[in-house]
Amino acid sequence: MSTIQLLPDLLINQIAAGEVIERPAAALKEILENSLDAGATDIIVQLEGGGVKLLRVRDNGSGIAPEELSLALMRHATSKIASLADLQRVASMGFRGEALASMAAVAQVTLTSRQTEGTHAWQIQSGDGTQSEVIPAAHGQGTSVEIRELYFNTPARRKFLKSEATELAYCEETFKRIALSRPDVAFSLQHHNRMMLQLPTLSRSGNAPLASIYQVSKTSWEDNADALPKRIEAILSKEFSQSAVPVSRKAAGLHLYGMASLPAYSKASRDAQYFFVNGRFIRDKIVTHAIRQAYQDILHHQRHPAFVLFLDMPPELVDVNVHPAKSEVRFRESQAIHQFVFHTLQQVLSTPVALTENASDLSNQLAQVSSVQRTMSIQQPMQLHMASQPLAFYDALFGKKENRDGEEEKFNDAPFLSTQPHSQSSPPETEIPPLGFAMAQLAGIYILAQNVHGLVVVDMHAAHERIVYERLKTALDRQQIPMQPLLIPVCFAAEALDIATAEEEHAAMAQLGFDIAPLSPTTLAVRAMPAMLKQTHAEAAARDVLHEMREYGATRVLTERRNELLSTLACHSAVRANQILTVPEMNNILREMERTERSGQCNHGRPTWFQMSIAELDTLFMRGK
Ligand SMILES: Nc1ncnc2c1ncn2[C@@H]1O[C@H](COP(=O)(O)OP(=O)(O)OP(=O)(O)O)[C@@H](O)[C@H]1O
Ligand SMILES: [Mg+2]
Repeated sequence: MSTIQLLPDLLINQIAAGEVIERPAAALKEILENSLDAGATDIIVQLEGGGVKLLRVRDNGSGIAPEELSLALMRHATSKIASLADLQRVASMGFRGEALASMAAVAQVTLTSRQTEGTHAWQIQSGDGTQSEVIPAAHGQGTSVEIRELYFNTPARRKFLKSEATELAYCEETFKRIALSRPDVAFSLQHHNRMMLQLPTLSRSGNAPLASIYQVSKTSWEDNADALPKRIEAILSKEFSQSAVPVSRKAAGLHLYGMASLPAYSKASRDAQYFFVNGRFIRDKIVTHAIRQAYQDILHHQRHPAFVLFLDMPPELVDVNVHPAKSEVRFRESQAIHQFVFHTLQQVLSTPVALTENASDLSNQLAQVSSVQRTMSIQQPMQLHMASQPLAFYDALFGKKENRDGEEEKFNDAPFLSTQPHSQSSPPETEIPPLGFAMAQLAGIYILAQNVHGLVVVDMHAAHERIVYERLKTALDRQQIPMQPLLIPVCFAAEALDIATAEEEHAAMAQLGFDIAPLSPTTLAVRAMPAMLKQTHAEAAARDVLHEMREYGATRVLTERRNELLSTLACHSAVRANQILTVPEMNNILREMERTERSGQCNHGRPTWFQMSIAELDTLFMRGK
């Protein structure tokens, strides 16, 4: 074995570079973060060869003093923190004084910078452990960092790089994350002089005051309430913006805001998921789990939500110094964060879907986002006012409004699609409900309705199933699923184990609204069942409950297995394909959907309804072309 020696600086930096700068995208991230820390409001990125040949970032930030250019390229040289106390409440993106030094160890780096007070710029070059003299140069206010031939002197590392297209894709993703986090800053990205993304700011580009380098390096949601939705749309897509709901909730020093997709816009991959903590893009198991859980009940398990969410919190409650690329954090109160993220999203997503999904254009979305921002509360259902024409059309089809009053009926606690008259839920003259009025049933499967936007198509089984399921859940939460005694008990042959289960778990089954008792050593009788289920399915429902109790025991059935069982029961009881519904029955389903949380998806995550606007129909018929 050889003797112990101190490693030379260049080698130390090359080893660090392996962790901090594992590919061009990582270098790009560090350079962009430096520009943001310097208060830049305009940032231009130019790449060649996927960022491996050339990576140049120009900003209009505060600049670096000529006498500090050399220091900026040295390891552990930073202007951002000076003590452990600073590190514990770090608000800038950088704090280690390591990024530029690492880059200088594995690439040719040129720094050109001019401060506000400078008469001209200064430049320094570095590569392979040596630095040039600082020489005068031409450059506007701000800094340009140029990285050429990444890993030119560490061939083993360079071999790990992927194709130009892949490295470029990584750079683009990094660029998007940073650009999303700062809608108040203008960004552009070019590859071989081809413009790939150009992201202007809303209006004040150029003349915004420069933030001090010591200031919190991100601006607040209040400042970005208008700019953020625009930036999100530019980076994710218009489609996302249109099918996402705004999120904004503040509690106990935490603020979660941004946009989250409704289940109809789910994706097969996780590639449209952006979560930022204090302006920093991160991946975190706790957060991922909380989001997944918020979507659990409404998203098919193979689909993934899309979201852009920001969590702002006091810096001392989160440790950002746990990962070489700062892409992971550690929360001091991880359980509280989980709860906060989960509850906020769950609440936003469970707002009855008809009231949120009809936001058909972006300006609507923007209005909603900024109104949410103003009130800092969860989105309130919006009122849809009816145009006179649809009502006239409805009247023509189904008679005048007076007659309709008689047709409206309560669906709330009815076991079946009851048709008793009931006047409270009839809409006033000037309003049309979000899902409109039923017109007809199609193929025994779909309800066709008309609302202010045009045609609404509802999968009646899927929708009804969700309604029954949510009602069962709410009733069980209140510990009282209303029981309906059966006039004639439904008897069925059962195995000895089922009979034993019926006896042992009688109380637990009563909680679920069932009274199942042995009639003989081989027969069970359903004497009562939940009022909201269909009596014709008494035996099937009773068998489901017994089966669950046998397999998992009462405690698990009433806790972790609960939703699955209620979902199965709801499926049995929901209207079936080819069941003929009357117009009032169909209207009941529509009204009930509007009242029911998560009614936009069936219990298996499939959509329950679609809107087809008059404009879309016009396009189909080439009207106005
Ligand atoms: N674009 C820039 N504008 C102004 N100053 C800059 C810029 N880039 C770097 N600097 C200066 O150079 C110093 C070193 O940058 P470097 O990225 O190596 O370290 P850091 O940002 O302090 O910490 P970290 O290693 O965590 O990124 C910074 O502290 C800052 O003072
Ligand atoms: Mg840095």
